[in-house]
Amino acid sequence: MAVVQLRDIVTDEDRARALAVQRGPGQEHYVASVEKSFADAIESPEAAPRYWTVNDGDEVVGFVMISDGVPAGEIEADPTLIGPYFLWRLLIDERHQRQGYGTATLDALVAYLRDRPGAIELYTSCVPGDGTPQPFYERYGFVPTGRIEEDEVVLRLDLPRGDR
Ligand SMILES: CC(C)(COP(=O)(O)OP(=O)(O)OC[C@H]1O[C@@H](n2cnc3c(N)ncnc32)[C@H](O)[C@@H]1OP(=O)(O)O)[C@@H](O)C(=O)NCCC(=O)NCCS
Repeated sequence: MAVVQLRDIVTDEDRARALAVQRGPGQEHYVASVEKSFADAIESPEAAPRYWTVNDGDEVVGFVMISDGVPAGEIEADPTLIGPYFLWRLLIDERHQRQGYGTATLDALVAYLRDRPGAIELYTSCVPGDGTPQPFYERYGFVPTGRIEEDEVVLRLDLPRGDR
């Protein structure tokens, strides 16, 4: 079973290693690049962006970005925002896909969210169609909410409750 660590992206070198994470052919339809994710994080501070590289030891195998606790007031002000906790981007490098790293990243996120206030569920959304990652999320336990946001299917994962 794969195990990963979520590492903060702090230095220019961390950033360069994150930017080297590549999608496979055709996957650009389903997930934006790391470069675009950095730009989105700067443009949308109200969505409470937080990102990490996904590491297997010293090797960077992917990139993940979440909305890490969007304030209720922001969600009320912008009904397209989903939260407070939303898995915004998940990319496992094409050379490392289908080796359990995507699942391990979800495990690491669930562990991280245990200590976050009010984290009772994690949302994500997927572009539907051939090659969509939706089955990957459903296999993990996400369920469709019935909501469609910007042509994407919104899914929800109930999080295990800690001592909150
Ligand atoms: C989707 C993604 C995150 C999955 O990560 P991964 O490390 O390849 O997934 P895992 O190895 O943990 O896969 C676990 C299971 O999920 C399923 N699965 C994985 N990717 C899938 C896909 N694209 N379509 C359908 N099922 C998929 C498989 O059943 C897989 O088990 P198997 O390899 O025994 O068949 C990764 O393929 C990826 O980054 N894809 C491109 C970007 C993307 O679509 N991101 C999601 C944005 S919403």
